[in-house]
Amino acid sequence: MHPLKLLQPSPTLSARLSQIHERILERAPCVERIACVIHDADSDMLKTFINSTRAGTPIAGYEFKLADSVSLSRLAAGQGVRIIDDIPAAIVPNSKHSSWLLSQGYQSSFTTVLNDEGKFFGFLFANSTQKGAFTLEVQRDLLLFTSLINMAISSELAAIRSISASIEVAKDLANLRDFETGAHLERMARNSRLIARKVAGKYGLNDEFVENVYFFAPLHDIGKIGIPDEILLKPGKLTPDEYAVMRTHVEKGMRIIETILGDFNISELPNCTILRNIVLCHHEFLDGSGYPNGLRSADIPLEARIVTVADIFDALMHTRPYKKQWTYEQALAELRRMAAAGQLDADCVEALDCAKSEIESVLSQYTG
Ligand SMILES: [Fe+2]
Ligand SMILES: [Fe+2]
Repeated sequence: MHPLKLLQPSPTLSARLSQIHERILERAPCVERIACVIHDADSDMLKTFINSTRAGTPIAGYEFKLADSVSLSRLAAGQGVRIIDDIPAAIVPNSKHSSWLLSQGYQSSFTTVLNDEGKFFGFLFANSTQKGAFTLEVQRDLLLFTSLINMAISSELAAIRSISASIEVAKDLANLRDFETGAHLERMARNSRLIARKVAGKYGLNDEFVENVYFFAPLHDIGKIGIPDEILLKPGKLTPDEYAVMRTHVEKGMRIIETILGDFNISELPNCTILRNIVLCHHEFLDGSGYPNGLRSADIPLEARIVTVADIFDALMHTRPYKKQWTYEQALAELRRMAAAGQLDADCVEALDCAKSEIESVLSQYTG
Protein backbone atom coordinates (compact mmCIF):
# COMPACT_ATOMS: atom_id res chain seq x y z
CA MET A 1 0.00 0.00 0.00
CA HIS A 2 1.23 3.53 -0.76
CA PRO A 3 1.68 5.70 2.31
CA LEU A 4 -1.10 8.26 2.57
CA LYS A 5 0.22 11.58 1.36
CA LEU A 6 0.20 14.97 3.07
CA LEU A 7 -0.95 17.90 0.99
CA GLN A 8 0.72 21.28 0.80
CA PRO A 9 -1.52 24.22 1.64
CA SER A 10 -2.71 26.55 -1.17
CA PRO A 11 -3.37 30.28 -0.64
CA THR A 12 -5.59 30.97 2.31
CA LEU A 13 -8.00 33.85 2.82
CA SER A 14 -5.24 35.68 4.70
CA ALA A 15 -2.97 35.40 1.66
CA ARG A 16 -5.73 36.54 -0.66
CA LEU A 17 -6.51 39.52 1.58
CA SER A 18 -2.90 40.58 1.46
CA GLN A 19 -2.92 40.37 -2.38
CA ILE A 20 -6.03 42.53 -2.51
CA HIS A 21 -4.43 44.96 -0.06
CA GLU A 22 -1.48 45.25 -2.46
CA ARG A 23 -3.87 46.40 -5.19
CA ILE A 24 -5.61 48.83 -2.85
CA LEU A 25 -2.24 50.35 -1.93
CA GLU A 26 -1.52 51.06 -5.61
CA ARG A 27 -4.61 53.26 -5.75
CA ALA A 28 -4.72 54.49 -2.14
CA PRO A 29 -1.28 54.29 -0.47
CA CYS A 30 -2.73 55.75 2.73
CA VAL A 31 -4.68 52.53 3.55
CA GLU A 32 -2.15 50.79 5.79
CA ARG A 33 -4.38 48.19 7.37
CA ILE A 34 -7.29 46.03 6.21
CA ALA A 35 -8.87 43.60 8.65
CA CYS A 36 -12.01 41.48 8.72
CA VAL A 37 -13.82 40.30 11.81
CA ILE A 38 -16.47 37.58 11.78
CA HIS A 39 -19.68 37.69 13.79
CA ASP A 40 -20.83 34.59 15.66
CA ALA A 41 -24.61 34.94 15.77
CA ASP A 42 -25.02 32.50 18.69
CA SER A 43 -22.79 34.40 21.09
CA ASP A 44 -23.00 37.87 19.43
CA MET A 45 -19.19 37.93 19.52
CA LEU A 46 -17.07 39.58 16.85
CA LYS A 47 -13.85 37.62 16.38
CA THR A 48 -10.66 38.80 14.69
CA PHE A 49 -10.30 36.70 11.55
CA ILE A 50 -7.95 37.94 8.84
CA ASN A 51 -5.83 41.06 8.53
CA SER A 52 -3.23 42.65 6.32
CA THR A 53 -1.26 45.18 8.33
CA ARG A 54 1.49 47.38 6.83
CA ALA A 55 1.82 49.87 9.69
CA GLY A 56 1.51 48.86 13.35
CA THR A 57 1.17 45.49 15.06
CA PRO A 58 -1.83 43.34 14.12
CA ILE A 59 -4.41 42.52 16.77
CA ALA A 60 -5.18 38.78 16.87
CA GLY A 61 -6.93 36.21 19.03
CA TYR A 62 -9.35 38.88 20.19
CA GLU A 63 -13.13 38.94 20.50
CA PHE A 64 -15.70 41.45 21.67
CA LYS A 65 -19.47 41.66 21.87
CA LEU A 66 -21.20 43.45 19.01
CA ALA A 67 -23.90 44.78 21.37
CA ASP A 68 -21.17 46.63 23.31
CA SER A 69 -20.51 48.93 20.38
CA VAL A 70 -23.41 51.24 19.56
CA SER A 71 -22.00 52.48 16.28
CA LEU A 72 -21.08 49.00 14.99
CA SER A 73 -24.50 47.62 16.01
CA ARG A 74 -26.10 50.42 14.03
CA LEU A 75 -23.87 49.67 11.06
CA ALA A 76 -24.68 45.95 11.23
CA ALA A 77 -28.41 46.67 11.25
CA GLY A 78 -28.26 48.87 8.18
CA GLN A 79 -25.81 49.25 5.33
CA GLY A 80 -23.28 51.86 4.35
CA VAL A 81 -20.01 52.85 5.91
CA ARG A 82 -18.68 54.41 9.09
CA ILE A 83 -15.89 56.92 8.65
CA ILE A 84 -13.81 58.26 11.51
CA ASP A 85 -11.60 61.13 10.31
CA ASP A 86 -9.80 61.79 13.58
CA ILE A 87 -9.46 58.68 15.75
CA PRO A 88 -7.67 60.27 18.76
CA ALA A 89 -10.44 62.89 19.01
CA ALA A 90 -13.31 60.43 18.48
CA ILE A 91 -12.32 57.30 20.43
CA VAL A 92 -12.39 56.77 24.18
CA PRO A 93 -9.99 53.97 25.24
CA ASN A 94 -12.64 51.92 27.08
CA SER A 95 -11.83 48.50 25.59
CA LYS A 96 -8.71 46.50 24.68
CA HIS A 97 -9.67 47.08 21.07
CA SER A 98 -9.92 50.89 21.26
CA SER A 99 -6.74 51.18 23.37
CA TRP A 100 -4.94 49.05 20.80
CA LEU A 101 -6.28 51.24 17.97
CA LEU A 102 -5.02 54.41 19.68
CA SER A 103 -1.62 52.87 20.45
CA GLN A 104 -1.04 52.03 16.76
CA GLY A 105 -0.99 55.64 15.68
CA TYR A 106 -3.95 55.26 13.31
CA GLN A 107 -5.63 58.58 12.65
CA SER A 108 -8.61 57.61 10.54
CA SER A 109 -10.73 54.57 9.77
CA PHE A 110 -13.27 53.15 7.36
CA THR A 111 -15.68 50.39 8.37
CA THR A 112 -18.25 48.56 6.32
CA VAL A 113 -20.35 45.43 6.72
CA LEU A 114 -19.71 42.03 5.20
CA ASN A 115 -22.84 40.30 3.93
CA ASP A 116 -23.73 36.89 2.61
CA GLU A 117 -26.85 37.11 0.44
CA GLY A 118 -27.94 40.12 2.43
CA LYS A 119 -27.19 38.51 5.80
CA PHE A 120 -24.68 40.33 7.98
CA PHE A 121 -21.67 38.18 8.95
CA GLY A 122 -18.87 40.58 9.86
CA PHE A 123 -17.04 43.86 9.26
CA LEU A 124 -14.19 45.09 7.18
CA PHE A 125 -12.00 47.72 8.81
CA ALA A 126 -9.47 49.89 6.99
CA ASN A 127 -7.10 52.22 8.82
CA SER A 128 -4.67 54.95 7.96
CA THR A 129 -2.02 56.84 9.90
CA GLN A 130 -3.21 60.00 8.10
CA LYS A 131 -6.13 62.06 9.38
CA GLY A 132 -9.12 62.21 7.04
CA ALA A 133 -7.59 59.66 4.65
CA PHE A 134 -10.92 58.19 3.60
CA THR A 135 -12.07 60.70 1.02
CA LEU A 136 -15.06 59.88 -1.17
CA GLU A 137 -12.71 58.61 -3.85
CA VAL A 138 -10.88 56.27 -1.47
CA GLN A 139 -14.24 55.08 -0.11
CA ARG A 140 -15.43 54.23 -3.60
CA ASP A 141 -12.27 52.20 -4.26
CA LEU A 142 -12.55 50.45 -0.94
CA LEU A 143 -16.18 49.50 -1.48
CA LEU A 144 -15.23 47.92 -4.77
CA PHE A 145 -12.44 45.90 -3.19
CA THR A 146 -14.64 45.06 -0.19
CA SER A 147 -17.02 43.28 -2.53
CA LEU A 148 -14.11 41.10 -3.74
CA ILE A 149 -13.05 40.29 -0.19
CA ASN A 150 -16.69 39.72 0.77
CA MET A 151 -17.05 37.23 -2.07
CA ALA A 152 -13.87 35.35 -1.14
CA ILE A 153 -14.91 35.03 2.50
CA SER A 154 -18.54 34.12 1.84
CA SER A 155 -17.67 31.37 -0.63
CA GLU A 156 -15.26 29.91 1.90
CA LEU A 157 -17.83 30.21 4.69
CA ALA A 158 -20.44 28.51 2.50
CA ALA A 159 -18.02 25.62 1.96
CA ILE A 160 -17.34 25.43 5.67
CA ARG A 161 -21.09 25.41 6.37
CA SER A 162 -21.44 22.37 4.11
CA ILE A 163 -18.72 20.58 6.06
CA SER A 164 -20.39 21.75 9.25
CA ALA A 165 -23.49 19.74 8.35
CA SER A 166 -21.24 16.67 8.10
CA ILE A 167 -19.67 17.46 11.46
CA GLU A 168 -23.12 17.41 13.04
CA VAL A 169 -23.82 14.04 11.41
CA ALA A 170 -20.47 12.75 12.70
CA LYS A 171 -21.32 13.87 16.23
CA ASP A 172 -24.76 12.25 16.06
CA LEU A 173 -23.28 9.01 14.74
CA ALA A 174 -20.63 8.92 17.43
CA ASN A 175 -23.29 9.48 20.07
CA LEU A 176 -25.63 6.95 18.55
CA ARG A 177 -23.02 4.21 18.32
CA ASP A 178 -21.85 5.12 21.76
CA PHE A 179 -18.12 5.24 21.07
CA GLU A 180 -17.76 8.91 21.79
CA THR A 181 -19.95 11.60 23.25
CA GLY A 182 -20.79 14.88 21.58
CA ALA A 183 -19.38 16.49 24.73
CA HIS A 184 -15.95 14.86 24.16
CA LEU A 185 -15.86 16.27 20.64
CA GLU A 186 -16.91 19.70 21.83
CA ARG A 187 -14.32 19.73 24.65
CA MET A 188 -11.46 18.49 22.55
CA ALA A 189 -12.27 21.02 19.82
CA ARG A 190 -12.37 23.87 22.33
CA ASN A 191 -9.18 22.70 24.03
CA SER A 192 -7.51 22.39 20.62
CA ARG A 193 -8.39 26.02 19.99
CA LEU A 194 -6.97 27.04 23.38
CA ILE A 195 -3.71 25.23 22.62
CA ALA A 196 -3.57 26.74 19.13
CA ARG A 197 -4.04 30.23 20.58
CA LYS A 198 -1.30 29.69 23.15
CA VAL A 199 1.26 28.45 20.61
CA ALA A 200 0.15 30.95 17.93
CA GLY A 201 2.89 33.47 18.78
CA LYS A 202 5.72 30.95 18.63
CA TYR A 203 4.58 29.31 15.39
CA GLY A 204 3.20 32.41 13.67
CA LEU A 205 -0.36 31.08 13.45
CA ASN A 206 -3.10 33.48 12.45
CA ASP A 207 -6.71 33.56 13.64
CA GLU A 208 -7.89 31.91 10.44
CA PHE A 209 -5.74 28.87 11.23
CA VAL A 210 -6.83 28.77 14.89
CA GLU A 211 -10.54 28.90 13.99
CA ASN A 212 -10.11 26.15 11.44
CA VAL A 213 -8.38 23.86 13.93
CA TYR A 214 -11.36 24.39 16.25
CA PHE A 215 -13.78 23.79 13.46
CA PHE A 216 -12.26 20.61 12.06
CA ALA A 217 -11.03 18.91 15.25
CA PRO A 218 -14.36 17.09 15.89
CA LEU A 219 -13.88 15.14 12.66
CA HIS A 220 -10.58 13.52 13.73
CA ASP A 221 -12.14 10.11 14.42
CA ILE A 222 -14.85 10.14 11.76
CA GLY A 223 -13.36 6.91 10.35
CA LYS A 224 -14.46 5.03 13.49
CA ILE A 225 -17.87 4.92 11.83
CA GLY A 226 -16.40 2.08 9.76
CA ILE A 227 -15.11 -0.01 12.69
CA PRO A 228 -17.30 -2.96 13.81
CA ASP A 229 -19.01 -2.65 17.19
CA GLU A 230 -17.31 -5.68 18.73
CA ILE A 231 -13.95 -3.93 18.35
CA LEU A 232 -15.02 -0.31 18.75
CA LEU A 233 -17.04 -0.94 21.89
CA LYS A 234 -14.99 -3.77 23.40
CA PRO A 235 -14.67 -3.10 27.12
CA GLY A 236 -11.32 -4.89 27.58
CA LYS A 237 -7.93 -4.58 25.93
CA LEU A 238 -7.84 -5.20 22.17
CA THR A 239 -5.92 -8.17 20.75
CA PRO A 240 -3.15 -7.29 18.23
CA ASP A 241 -5.49 -8.26 15.36
CA GLU A 242 -8.32 -6.17 16.71
CA TYR A 243 -5.94 -3.27 17.25
CA ALA A 244 -4.84 -3.52 13.62
CA VAL A 245 -8.49 -3.18 12.57
CA MET A 246 -8.95 -0.25 14.94
CA ARG A 247 -5.99 1.55 13.37
CA THR A 248 -7.69 1.48 9.97
CA HIS A 249 -10.04 4.21 11.22
CA VAL A 250 -7.48 6.75 9.97
CA GLU A 251 -7.58 5.56 6.36
CA LYS A 252 -11.35 5.10 6.55
CA GLY A 253 -11.59 8.64 7.88
CA MET A 254 -9.55 10.00 4.98
CA ARG A 255 -11.85 8.25 2.51
CA ILE A 256 -14.92 9.72 4.21
CA ILE A 257 -13.39 13.21 4.20
CA GLU A 258 -12.51 12.99 0.51
CA THR A 259 -16.08 11.89 -0.23
CA ILE A 260 -17.53 14.80 1.73
CA LEU A 261 -15.18 17.30 0.07
CA GLY A 262 -15.83 15.80 -3.35
CA ASP A 263 -19.61 15.79 -2.84
CA PHE A 264 -19.58 19.46 -2.01
CA ASN A 265 -17.05 20.17 -4.72
CA ILE A 266 -14.73 21.90 -2.29
CA SER A 267 -11.62 19.70 -2.43
CA GLU A 268 -9.55 22.72 -3.39
CA LEU A 269 -10.59 24.80 -0.39
CA PRO A 270 -7.17 25.73 1.07
CA ASN A 271 -8.20 25.17 4.66
CA CYS A 272 -9.24 21.60 3.85
CA THR A 273 -5.55 20.80 4.20
CA ILE A 274 -5.98 21.42 7.92
CA LEU A 275 -8.91 19.00 8.00
CA ARG A 276 -7.01 16.33 6.06
CA ASN A 277 -3.92 16.69 8.24
CA ILE A 278 -5.97 16.37 11.43
CA VAL A 279 -7.70 13.20 10.25
CA LEU A 280 -4.55 11.67 8.78
CA CYS A 281 -2.00 12.51 11.47
CA HIS A 282 -3.78 12.57 14.84
CA HIS A 283 -2.15 9.24 15.86
CA GLU A 284 1.36 10.12 14.74
CA PHE A 285 3.98 10.56 17.49
CA LEU A 286 7.04 12.81 17.22
CA ASP A 287 9.42 9.85 17.73
CA GLY A 288 7.99 8.02 14.72
CA SER A 289 6.16 5.41 16.79
CA GLY A 290 2.68 6.51 15.69
CA TYR A 291 0.53 5.51 12.71
CA PRO A 292 -0.36 5.29 9.84
CA ASN A 293 2.88 6.71 8.36
CA GLY A 294 5.26 6.74 11.33
CA LEU A 295 6.00 10.42 10.67
CA ARG A 296 8.53 12.22 12.85
CA SER A 297 8.82 15.66 14.47
CA ALA A 298 8.17 18.57 12.13
CA ASP A 299 6.84 16.21 9.44
CA ILE A 300 3.71 15.98 11.57
CA PRO A 301 1.67 19.10 10.86
CA LEU A 302 1.17 21.37 13.85
CA GLU A 303 -2.64 21.14 13.60
CA ALA A 304 -2.36 17.38 14.14
CA ARG A 305 0.09 17.76 17.03
CA ILE A 306 -2.37 20.14 18.70
CA VAL A 307 -5.37 17.85 18.21
CA THR A 308 -3.43 14.79 19.44
CA VAL A 309 -2.64 16.50 22.74
CA ALA A 310 -6.21 17.78 23.19
CA ASP A 311 -7.65 14.36 22.32
CA ILE A 312 -5.43 12.38 24.71
CA PHE A 313 -5.95 14.97 27.44
CA ASP A 314 -9.72 14.64 27.21
CA ALA A 315 -9.55 10.85 27.10
CA LEU A 316 -7.45 10.87 30.29
CA MET A 317 -9.80 13.26 32.02
CA HIS A 318 -12.89 11.15 31.38
CA THR A 319 -14.02 7.66 32.13
CA ARG A 320 -13.66 5.19 29.28
CA PRO A 321 -14.63 1.51 29.24
CA TYR A 322 -10.98 0.64 29.98
CA LYS A 323 -9.99 3.31 32.48
CA LYS A 324 -11.07 5.52 35.36
CA GLN A 325 -11.24 9.28 35.27
CA TRP A 326 -8.02 11.17 36.13
CA THR A 327 -7.58 14.57 37.77
CA TYR A 328 -6.29 17.56 35.81
CA GLU A 329 -2.89 17.24 37.50
CA GLN A 330 -2.62 13.49 36.80
CA ALA A 331 -3.60 13.98 33.15
CA LEU A 332 -1.09 16.80 32.71
CA ALA A 333 1.66 14.73 34.37
CA GLU A 334 0.97 11.89 31.94
CA LEU A 335 1.07 14.23 28.93
CA ARG A 336 4.37 15.68 30.21
CA ARG A 337 5.74 12.17 30.54
CA MET A 338 4.74 11.47 26.93
CA ALA A 339 6.34 14.75 25.80
CA ALA A 340 9.57 13.92 27.66
CA ALA A 341 9.54 10.48 26.04
CA GLY A 342 9.51 12.21 22.66
CA GLN A 343 5.94 11.37 21.67
CA LEU A 344 3.95 14.57 22.15
CA ASP A 345 4.73 18.17 21.30
CA ALA A 346 5.96 19.78 24.54
CA ASP A 347 4.76 23.27 23.52
CA CYS A 348 1.23 21.97 23.02
CA VAL A 349 1.32 20.16 26.38
CA GLU A 350 2.59 23.23 28.24
CA ALA A 351 -0.07 25.33 26.50
CA LEU A 352 -2.65 23.25 28.35
CA ASP A 353 -1.06 24.21 31.65
CA CYS A 354 -1.06 27.92 30.75
CA ALA A 355 -4.76 27.72 29.87
CA LYS A 356 -5.82 25.95 33.07
CA SER A 357 -8.69 28.27 34.05
CA GLU A 358 -10.13 28.34 30.52
CA ILE A 359 -9.88 24.55 30.35
CA GLU A 360 -11.71 24.16 33.63
CA SER A 361 -14.52 26.30 32.30
CA VAL A 362 -14.73 24.14 29.13
CA LEU A 363 -14.81 21.01 31.33
CA SER A 364 -17.63 22.30 33.48
CA GLN A 365 -19.65 23.53 30.50
CA TYR A 366 -19.56 20.31 28.50
CA THR A 367 -20.08 17.29 30.70
CA GLY A 368 -20.75 13.73 29.65
FE1 LIG B 1 -8.32 8.39 16.25
FE1 LIG C 1 -11.20 11.55 20.29
